[in-house]
Amino acid sequence: MPDNSGPIAVLCSGGDSCGMNACVRSVVRTALFHGVEIYGVERGYAGLINGAIERLSARSVSGIINRGGTVIRSARSADFVERGGRVRAAEQLAGHGIASLVVLGGDGSFHGAHFLALEHPSLRVVGVPCTIDNDINGTDLTIGYDTAVNVAMSAIDKIRDTASSHDRLFVVEVMGRHAGHIALEVAVASGAEEVFLPETTEDLDAIAARLSEGRRNGKTSSIVVVAEGETQGNAHDIAAFLQNTTGFEVRVSILGYIQRGGIPTATDRVVASRMGAAAVEVILDGQSGVYVGIENDRITTHPFPFAWEAKKAVDPDRVRVLRMLAI
Ligand code: F6P
Repeated sequence: MPDNSGPIAVLCSGGDSCGMNACVRSVVRTALFHGVEIYGVERGYAGLINGAIERLSARSVSGIINRGGTVIRSARSADFVERGGRVRAAEQLAGHGIASLVVLGGDGSFHGAHFLALEHPSLRVVGVPCTIDNDINGTDLTIGYDTAVNVAMSAIDKIRDTASSHDRLFVVEVMGRHAGHIALEVAVASGAEEVFLPETTEDLDAIAARLSEGRRNGKTSSIVVVAEGETQGNAHDIAAFLQNTTGFEVRVSILGYIQRGGIPTATDRVVASRMGAAAVEVILDGQSGVYVGIENDRITTHPFPFAWEAKKAVDPDRVRVLRMLAI
């Protein structure tokens, strides 16, 4: 029998990601299913500190499972980084009679949630990993990653049309501030010739040599995917180098924020629905200071610090396959 310790609130924090709405819907309806009152907090921790808290019903989240963005808005809050901000946030929750908080966000948001849980043990705080970057340890997927990869893939498919019409090499920058998961996945999915990841150091001359060899072997165009957080230079630096070394005419395309929007894929909607439900049930189970994840298709939980204590590695086998298929 679940322990109904009192009302739950849900907020979205940090960069938005497709599937946040599906997750909010799941949190709201799972709570109501179990007979628990549910509140939405607008604009993340900033809204929490300011008391932007509203009671939600099952109908408040109708028609949002298929929408990108987040209907309760998201924000980054400098105030919540300070203990005083977290005290004000806890006071707002107490003032509304709210006992638990579900935080949808990435590792920065989880840091805040971790400290809130530590400093206010009477609260139950549970996280749901939402970021397009898929850079949270302890979960195979984060909400928004699959949609971002698909948006980037369809953009690169279009770029390929013009690249092949003009015999050009395109350097395409995808998002991923500190992580190359999007870059690697989309590079494999779009049949790119090369990929630059922040996690690895590339031999630039070897890459130029492989691209030149491809050209000699009849490739008339090429796609090079670069993660935003690449440490050996940005897309323009890499493009300038390849223009000088490969003989290709080179162009740059920065995909940017289109990767944060769109219609969430089925995978993101299902993951969001499962994780949102799990977050509420973990709270009803009496847990706090943890986030939910999906590993090998099973829901798991880990204490917040597990999210950042180890960096989630990029898969070397995907790099191997990409290179093998790029001949
Ligand atoms: O963390 C997700 C992400 O989209 C990164 O890939 C990107 O670098 C960052 O957010 C951009 O954040 P902001 O919304 O603050 O510009």
